[in-house]
Formats: sequence, C-alpha cells, structure tokens
Amino acid sequence: MVSELRVPLGVDPTKPSIARVYDYMLGGRNNFAVDRDAGDKALRITPDAPVAGRANRAFLGRVIRYLVTEVGVRQLLDIGSGLPTQGNVHEIAHSIDPSVRVVYIDNDPMALAHGRALLAGTGTTTVIQADLRQPEEILAHPEIRERIDFTHPVGLLLIGILHHINDHEDPVGITDRLRAALPPGSHLALSHFHNPGDRLPDIAWKARAAEKVFNETLGTGRWRSTEEIMRYFGDMDVLEPGLVPLPDWRPDPGQTHDLQPHTYHTFVGGLARMA
Ligand SMILES: C[S@@+](CC[C@H](N)C(=O)[O-])C[C@H]1O[C@@H](n2cnc3c(N)ncnc32)[C@H](O)[C@@H]1O
Repeated sequence: MVSELRVPLGVDPTKPSIARVYDYMLGGRNNFAVDRDAGDKALRITPDAPVAGRANRAFLGRVIRYLVTEVGVRQLLDIGSGLPTQGNVHEIAHSIDPSVRVVYIDNDPMALAHGRALLAGTGTTTVIQADLRQPEEILAHPEIRERIDFTHPVGLLLIGILHHINDHEDPVGITDRLRAALPPGSHLALSHFHNPGDRLPDIAWKARAAEKVFNETLGTGRWRSTEEIMRYFGDMDVLEPGLVPLPDWRPDPGQTHDLQPHTYHTFVGGLARMA
C-alpha cells in the first residue's frame, strides 16, 4: 500500500515507473499500487515475466563474474541499474574483488534514494541520477569522471534499458556515443526485449501484444529484431555465444531454466569487446 512506503523527493506514486514495476516483478517491496496494476496488465500477456526478470538478473550475474574474474575489468558503469535487489552488481563484483569501482546510473528518483541508502559508507560504489538519453552529460558528469578512468578498460552495462529508449530518441546514436568513449579492452553487455519476426510468427505476435501493453501503461517498451539490437554493439567483437536468449549465455554448469517459449525467445542478451 502507498501509505506503507516512504515517498522519496521527486517520486510520483500516482504514475507507474519502469524501475518500480520491475521491482514488483522481481518480488520486491519498493513499488506502489499503480506499479502493481501496470505489472498485472503485463502479467496477463506474459505470466512468466517474473521468471524472465530473474533470468535477466542471472545473466547479469554471469556477465559480471566473467568480466571481473576472467577479463580483469576493475570498473563497471551500470546505466539503468534499477532499484536495489538481491545480488546487486557491486555485491557480486566485490565478492570477487572488493576494489572494483561501480557507478550506478538511473533516472528514477526512487532508484537514487534507495541506492544511496544501501550504499551509505561504501567507498568504491556510487549511484547517480542521470538519463541515458543524454550520453554527453553522463560522460562529463564529475562524479563519474572521478570514479571511472576512461583510459582503462570499462565494463559498460546496459541491462534491460535500451528497450525503454524509443526509436525517435535514437538508441543507436546513444550507444555510438558511449562506445566512442570506451578504451580498448572495454566491454559492453546488454539485454533487450526481442521480436524474432517471421522466424517465429506466433512469438512475434505475442511480442507485439506485450509491446502494446507496455506502451499503454509505461509509455515505452520496444521488442526489437536481432539486427536492430546488434547495431548497439557497433564494430565491437561480440563474444561467444553471441546475442542469445538469456539462459543460453554462458550458462553455469548444470544450469536449467523454466521460461515459457514466448518469454525465452523475447528476451536476449550478449557481451562484446572493444578491440
Ligand atoms: C527493467 S529495469 C532494469 C534494471 C537492471 N539493469 C536489471 O536489468 O536488472 C530498467 C531501468 O532503467 C531505468 N531507465 C529507463 N529509462 C532510463 C533512462 N532514459 N535513463 C536512465 N535510466 C533509465 C529505469 O528507471 C529502470 O530502473
């Protein structure tokens, strides 16, 4: 209930927010009735959306472990980081190396308030309110420049956010600009809602139905084609196994998944390296 949750400055509890609806899907408690209503509408089309949310978090966890353990990345820039949840990026990275610097960026004031509360006293990690649609501001932000050294490899995380950038907001131009700031050895990880098109017509139809519900409730949500999503990597080397359904990206030994076919094919992820 709205009255049970403190409303941080700048948060409008009468309109659903992407971060809070996602929190609801993940079983979190940082959401309002209006978010749960929006979430319930999406659940009517995709009843296993919470399973997809968990698959997305698991993908993110595997990416971080790969970047920190195998590549040796020591600075992570997580844009569209969301509300704190179980297994946050800095917690996973610091379980491997406590010196990894993590900068969280989200444009949702609730993500900022809860993120800052969680991070009070953590020296290596910070959370900043900024908008992906203004990449220049992100790259010039003093707190980001203070923590991220753009002469050393960066792990840029765009997990579950680019599908919330509408076509007219130029998501390709935004990713071009961010990639241009990354030095060699950097990596870009992304996950994205996916429309398989004519290859799987029944699933493409469901993707369009989900897109309609998202746009009616949240005003965003694009299920893009493989070709459209691959453009975000530009000329980076997309690492094996490529852009794939989330559970198929370098699964842990013995890992299984319980996604329905529709959800399995409509949420994909990948990781690329800057040569
Ligand atoms: C679905 S959540 C993903 C959270 C987390 N990255 C994950 O995958 O578990 C998307 C997040 O992107 C944020 N977001 C959406 N549009 C944004 C923008 N233009 N700039 C910054 N953050 C944005 C939302 O507030 C939300 O927290």
